[in-house]
Amino acid sequence: MSGFPWFDYRRGRLHAESVALEHIAREFGTPCYVYSRAAIVAAYREFDAAFEERDHLVCYAVKANPNLAILNLLARLGSGFDIVSGGELQRVLKAGGDPQKIVFSGVGKQAGEMRAALAAGILSFNVESEAELMALDRVAGETGRIAPVSLRVNPDVDANTHPYISTGLKENKFGIPFGEAEELYARARRLPNLRITGLDCHIGSQLTGLAPFAEASGKMLGLLTRLEALGLPIEHLDLGGGLGIRYSDETPPAVREYVAALCATTKGHSRHRILIEPGRALIGNAGVLLTRIEYLKHTPHRNFAIVDGAMNDLIRPALYDAYHEILPVMRNRRRGKIYQIVGPVCETGDFLGRDRKLPLSQDDLLAVMSAGAYGMSMSSNYNSRPRAAEVMVDGDRACLVRRRESVEQLFADESMLP
Ligand code: LLP
Repeated sequence: MSGFPWFDYRRGRLHAESVALEHIAREFGTPCYVYSRAAIVAAYREFDAAFEERDHLVCYAVKANPNLAILNLLARLGSGFDIVSGGELQRVLKAGGDPQKIVFSGVGKQAGEMRAALAAGILSFNVESEAELMALDRVAGETGRIAPVSLRVNPDVDANTHPYISTGLKENKFGIPFGEAEELYARARRLPNLRITGLDCHIGSQLTGLAPFAEASGKMLGLLTRLEALGLPIEHLDLGGGLGIRYSDETPPAVREYVAALCATTKGHSRHRILIEPGRALIGNAGVLLTRIEYLKHTPHRNFAIVDGAMNDLIRPALYDAYHEILPVMRNRRRGKIYQIVGPVCETGDFLGRDRKLPLSQDDLLAVMSAGAYGMSMSSNYNSRPRAAEVMVDGDRACLVRRRESVEQLFADESMLP
């Protein structure tokens, strides 16, 4: 057993659903991201079903992985989308997403992005500052449209996660200070080109306990009650994303438990639709990064496995010191050595895993697990490395959903001085 339901060993070979990863490496090359369609469908359905009778909308956080095949699959399942840029908006529309199920988050929305989202007719702008509120009213007025607005409020809750991905503390750049929300809603109501629709928060990512969610939703409900007492027409409560996944030995709450907790806290407000914005929990464990060992290097101090995937393909280990399980694609019974799994990029921070006990040989394939979220979406071309191919497996079929980039593509838009 690999511990990852959609990526498991059959006769000693690691598969994605029914396709051997070895076969994918041969056909599409490495490094390569491999996604399981069934894993994504199962994760979405788990969220959706957990709400039972409660009016809700699951808005996939596109930043986790914006591949069109993934967006299209989720759109067909009925998912909504949480976007943070005009680029993400275009992707969702291209993939067949319903504009009426899009919420637009982010602290720095530009006028052009607002115009595009107004023209598309999105469900709500999650506004993060007074200055943005004024800008949105102006842009909406110029285009002759009314902008649907929720304020993203910062509830000042400690999410107990990596400091770079905590967003709901008062020192973070996100959201409107909790104590200023009522006043700003009152202000928003007076602006002619806005329509208040909801109330929003998001406190961080990779949360592995329920307590911070409970604390945040409790505070948001208190605020909701006060806003309603002021006669503000709040239709939905957006409780953000953030549910963690298991990378190694974390024990995050099950989706069912998490959703049940949100529904229980908001029980007295069953008129309100609940929105959530999961990214990682929908896609994280539905993808792996497949990479091949170029060389083994044994020094008096350390053993290195130098693979063809690198920090430009998956930056999470370098950026957050994040742990990703690394499994051999072909299981063997040899005794392993302790290896540093590193890429070819010229940085000491270029590692995918440290101190892993594995039996390795040159040319072996490795699967870096739990790489579906914030893997490809945070990749870069550092060291002029073309970005990896992406493949989606559906049962016994493997489809290329993004071709490997070519080096020519990397400099196609550059020019030399005349
Ligand atoms: N909604 C908003 C407003 C967000 O800012 C985020 C993530 C999400 C939803 C989705 O959160 P999730 O369900 O995926 O935890 N690159 C980091 C994660 C950054 C998350 C930023 N915001 C990583 O690789 O761990």
